[in-house]
Amino acid sequence: MTTLRSRYPQHTWEPVTIGCSGAGVWRLTGSPAYYLKTVENSTELAEEAERLHWLRAQGLPAPEVVELGGDERSSWMVTTAVPGRSLAELGGDDRIWGFREIDALAAITRELHALPVADCPFDRTLDVVVPQALRNAEAGLVDETDFDEHRLGRTAMELFEELEATRPAHEDLVVCHGDLCTPNVLLDPETFAVTGLIDVGRLGVADRYNDLALTARSLGPTSAQRFFDSYGEVPVPERLAFYQLLDEFF
Ligand SMILES: Nc1ncnc2c1ncn2[C@@H]1O[C@H](COP(=O)(O)OP(=O)(O)O)[C@@H](O)[C@H]1O
Ligand SMILES: [Mg+2]
Repeated sequence: MTTLRSRYPQHTWEPVTIGCSGAGVWRLTGSPAYYLKTVENSTELAEEAERLHWLRAQGLPAPEVVELGGDERSSWMVTTAVPGRSLAELGGDDRIWGFREIDALAAITRELHALPVADCPFDRTLDVVVPQALRNAEAGLVDETDFDEHRLGRTAMELFEELEATRPAHEDLVVCHGDLCTPNVLLDPETFAVTGLIDVGRLGVADRYNDLALTARSLGPTSAQRFFDSYGEVPVPERLAFYQLLDEFF
């Protein structure tokens, strides 16, 4: 980390507190500006970098990876700063979005979901993800204090039983972002063009409700309704519930 700092001597480092993954995120202000993400040693960031690269190759807006590195204590990834502002910032504390912002989110979601599944090398189907959920629960990696409000007080293993009991028999597979919530979508506040999809460590082939469920939760009921109209889907409550439950394990 000390060496990393010395490689960007002209940049001002500011910590970013909006993310919720447990990663450390820093904005390196300067020209050009960068973002730095750090985690304790793991392959997480290499996986995210690979997905960013793939997403850009498909013609979707995403930051460019500038460097990927690590030392004995941590791993890091530096990316170019995407212009624009996240939907979370644009919604403010009241979480109110204009139709143009929500329609832009719906359009980029449809564009992502329209990519050919056969070309995507990342597998996030339930056969892969449900065993991962169990491993996370068993390893004590699931934060039980961070459950959605109506699940607070329950244990990760209780939720895993519910997950298995409600697992859908069929998956409607598309390329999913994997954590499609308002802090992870940036757009130009003037033109409403999406400037970047970020935080793509869980991108991969999965049921479209993986994204729809997290977006709906992130937008809140009123804006979610507009989102579904614009995306062109009549929301199915059981599928929303299952994929929101699945997210508790990650
Ligand atoms: N390349 C980038 N360009 C612009 N903003 C970014 C970039 N990377 C991160 N951010 C900002 O930092 C926040 C947290 O980064 P993110 O990768 O989503 O981390 P976390 O995994 O903690 O959610 C984002 O919501 C966004 O506001
Ligand atoms: Mg994020």
